[in-house]
Amino acid sequence: MPDPRPVPIPASIDRKRVPAHIGLVMDGNGRWATQRGLVRTEGHAAGEEALVDAAYGALAVGVKCLTVYAFSTENWRRPLDEVRYLMGFNESLLMRRRDELNEVGVRIVFSGRRDRRVPRRVLANMEAAQELTKNNKVMTLNMAFNYGGRAEIVDAVKRLVEDGIPADKITEKTIAQRLYHPELPDLDLVIRPSGETRISNFLLWEIAYSELVFNDILWPDYRREHLYAAIEEYQGRQRRFGGVDS
Ligand code: IPE
Ligand code: IPE
Ligand code: MG
Repeated sequence: MPDPRPVPIPASIDRKRVPAHIGLVMDGNGRWATQRGLVRTEGHAAGEEALVDAAYGALAVGVKCLTVYAFSTENWRRPLDEVRYLMGFNESLLMRRRDELNEVGVRIVFSGRRDRRVPRRVLANMEAAQELTKNNKVMTLNMAFNYGGRAEIVDAVKRLVEDGIPADKITEKTIAQRLYHPELPDLDLVIRPSGETRISNFLLWEIAYSELVFNDILWPDYRREHLYAAIEEYQGRQRRFGGVDS
């Protein structure tokens, strides 16, 4: 299916300096729903359109990888009904969207723990989406699901031990190689809408030198225009990585 809402890319974006890897914290669904007198889960449902539009926008502007925060290791603390809804919703979203994303060349992958709390059927559909899209090259859509930045580092350390790596061989590289997706580059840009200015355990290792952009838009209202504005803001920043400007 072609882009359902093609929007011109602002001329002010330098197409040669588009961030290769962007992280999006899809936050504010509950508040969006509450403002409208709806139940929180209706906010999650309304977030689907935002995700699809942001993904098409990222694709159009040439982003190579988009990581979206869909469910954190801390989100299990929510009421059981909401957790159940989110499990089923993420599964059905994948089933609804995987063919369309596949057609436009998106590779779908997941970051997070595949533990027993995630229903087996959900895991099976995650596998299916990953398998269907595994050879796609245009963009990687990494869904952070049952994801925690600390859990990811713990899992990497466990693998170091399992691999019998001695202490003097532990380096940033040997740790990074054991993260969930070592093939993906570090994040260039992390965007958090909804007015919260915190990281909430998103990609702790991979955002060491990311640019951070915050805004007040609640996730269901998020559209690619907001993504483009964040990319422009990113392009105005000076990245120094601890060095000095040349
Ligand atoms: C983000 O929206 C979705 C998930 C965390 C799964 P929220 O549900 O956190 O919405 P707010 O922050 O309560 O408004
Ligand atoms: C972060 O949002 C997780 C996701 C968007 C999936 P939260 O709503 O869970 O974060 P906090 O609780 O406000 O820090
Ligand atoms: Mg929230």
